[in-house]
Amino acid sequence: MSILKSKKTTLNSIKKRKNGEKITMITAYDALFASLFDSYVDIILVGDSLSMSFGGDDDTLAISLDEMIYHTKAVCKGAQNPIIIFDMPFGTYKDKKTALKNALKVYQNTKAHAVKIEGGEDKAHIIKHLTSNGIAVMAHVGLLPQSVRFEGGYKVKGKNESEEKQLLRDIKAVEQAGAFCVVIEGVKSEIATKMSKSVNIPTIGIGAGKNTDGQVLVWSDAFGFFEDFKPKFAKRYLEGASLIKDALQTYVDEVKNGEFPSEEHCY
Ligand code: KIV
Repeated sequence: MSILKSKKTTLNSIKKRKNGEKITMITAYDALFASLFDSYVDIILVGDSLSMSFGGDDDTLAISLDEMIYHTKAVCKGAQNPIIIFDMPFGTYKDKKTALKNALKVYQNTKAHAVKIEGGEDKAHIIKHLTSNGIAVMAHVGLLPQSVRFEGGYKVKGKNESEEKQLLRDIKAVEQAGAFCVVIEGVKSEIATKMSKSVNIPTIGIGAGKNTDGQVLVWSDAFGFFEDFKPKFAKRYLEGASLIKDALQTYVDEVKNGEFPSEEHCY
């Protein structure tokens, strides 16, 4: 049975879900899929994972602000009910002035409700600057995909005491800076649980165990569009790649053997 959401989500309704009904979030990058997700999830993230899921890149670093704006406009046309989060690309929030200039451009050119930025204690001053200028911010702590080249790979966090202490400082700092919500990515479950309990804003996990206030998955991971990519943190709800290939093979076969188009498809 599917239970469709009947009410429009707001930033305030998300804030109230701390320790309440779990928050659901998925990425989307275009109007068509956003319209399919519209009645089901609370939040759509136009993630910079766009570079990998659609752009064919190995990491998220190359996507530009203007490319993200184009895709976010499309998502906003497709989805009316969830809140829409714009993922600020690498380099677009390197200091307070740059961050505000770019976030204002996002608000002026799209209908996104909030922006997301990666970083903890080190980015708290930027979150504070944005929120005090009227921009809602979703924070993102733990494993930070935009740091992959700097760190030499994707490394799960919270594996030792000093990492644990830093993660706890990070989540507290983004809360104090005014973030309305925070993504915790790639953190040992036990530490993510402590992090979630230490703040009053909702936490949304990806590879962070069960005890966050919600979960997010990247669209292509959830629906199996990359056959060989099976990260431990993601569950496949569809074998998308093989379903599409099978359907395409049927179409190709039917064109070749003359079965398509049949009478019903002809004028
Ligand atoms: O870009 C993205 O899809 C993300 C999620 C992994 C949270 O930031």
